[in-house]
Amino acid sequence: MAAAGSAVGLGNIWGFPTQAASNGGAAFVVVYLILAFLLAYPVLMAEFTLGRHAHGNMIAALAKVSRNGTQRGLGTLVGIVGIFTASLILSFYAIVSGWMIGFGAAYPLEAAGASATATWLSEFGLLRNLTLMLIFMILTMAVVVGGVEKGIERWSKRLMPALIVTLMALSIYVLTLEGAGKGLAVYLVPDITKIWSTELIFKAMGAAFFSLSLGVGTMLIYGSYVSDDEHLPSLGAQVALVDVGIAVLAGFLILPAMYVAAERGVVIFNEAGGLLSEDTLIFVVLPALFDSMNQAGTALAVAFFGLMSIAALTSSISMLEVPVAFLVERFQWSRFKAAVIATLIVTAMSSVIVLNFDLLFGLVITVSTRYSQPILGLALCLYAGWVWRRDILLKELAKNELETEPTLFMRWWPWYVRFVCPTIILAIVARTIF
Ligand code: PFF
Repeated sequence: MAAAGSAVGLGNIWGFPTQAASNGGAAFVVVYLILAFLLAYPVLMAEFTLGRHAHGNMIAALAKVSRNGTQRGLGTLVGIVGIFTASLILSFYAIVSGWMIGFGAAYPLEAAGASATATWLSEFGLLRNLTLMLIFMILTMAVVVGGVEKGIERWSKRLMPALIVTLMALSIYVLTLEGAGKGLAVYLVPDITKIWSTELIFKAMGAAFFSLSLGVGTMLIYGSYVSDDEHLPSLGAQVALVDVGIAVLAGFLILPAMYVAAERGVVIFNEAGGLLSEDTLIFVVLPALFDSMNQAGTALAVAFFGLMSIAALTSSISMLEVPVAFLVERFQWSRFKAAVIATLIVTAMSSVIVLNFDLLFGLVITVSTRYSQPILGLALCLYAGWVWRRDILLKELAKNELETEPTLFMRWWPWYVRFVCPTIILAIVARTIF
């Protein structure tokens, strides 16, 4: 549940549907689904197995499977880049999550007559961005300080079911409104000509890696907390299915909602005839839709932004856990000290982004999620596929297999992460750069 909570986040409910909307609708959905299962799931398994084998963070895990000093050194480098990337992702994630909290609080405040505060919470502004980000970072820290069982697991178990129920209820409601059908068509009927677009494939790969929290060591650390009795391939499959399922479900909410909004006079297209940019969709179009609905709108808005805040929190705790686990394991710091220091560093990074928003926000997202995550994923495949001794890897995979015959997964996967995953990632990155 915690790993699914990490995977399910703003990436599913905000990122995936809005990127699909801006990048050819169903064409993006098709490419995303293919990449999620054929590329992201095997990489997720690399993280889970490496993590469980080492029962430690990424640096420790890569060192454990290394056979010489060079491999260990490179593994340390990969691990450090992973920790840095996780912190970088959290630093922009906390800003967006803060907005979610802001919008969620603005609606009831507005209804209660506190218009000025409500406006301040929902309008873009330096102080508002900083304050909300700080609130979100403190919440994240509080859960991580609680530890794995009492913090992360307990909250994931409570929050995830609430999220799924709210999302379903919202989608069903929006689908009954006028205009929803058009959005549904954009979402479900692919424009085949767009499927080979380099940009679309590159963005879909980033979205799949981001959505499954890959490359930065989050899933590796969660893998390190998994007991040897668990069957890793099915655990990974469950996480991937829940993640992709929620992204697809969110599409049934967001795209129809946009066209419902259009039906009510909200502008959803730019001058060039394309859909409005990704962030505007959620923070402009949806509030406009909620506003056009009076009373029901307020309730829906609170449910929606509450849902987004929950999804964000179960993901952000997994990001903060990356530096925290490293500091605890490497320097034997207390969890409290590690969480406070990691939070301070990420908050400082996040503040720099807030202060240079136009320059840094988009750049940080692109660098961390579209380049860094897939390339780190590539490195993890190389360690799982080439560096790790095959017999030891197979033993790790077979830990809870009762039958003596190797399963289909055990026969295919080592070969697959060794050749196929690195080739796909390299091909997509190279095609984009050149
Ligand atoms: N998977 C999260 C989402 O879809 O919102 C984002 C994420 C979480 C990325 C954790 C990276 C990470 F380490």
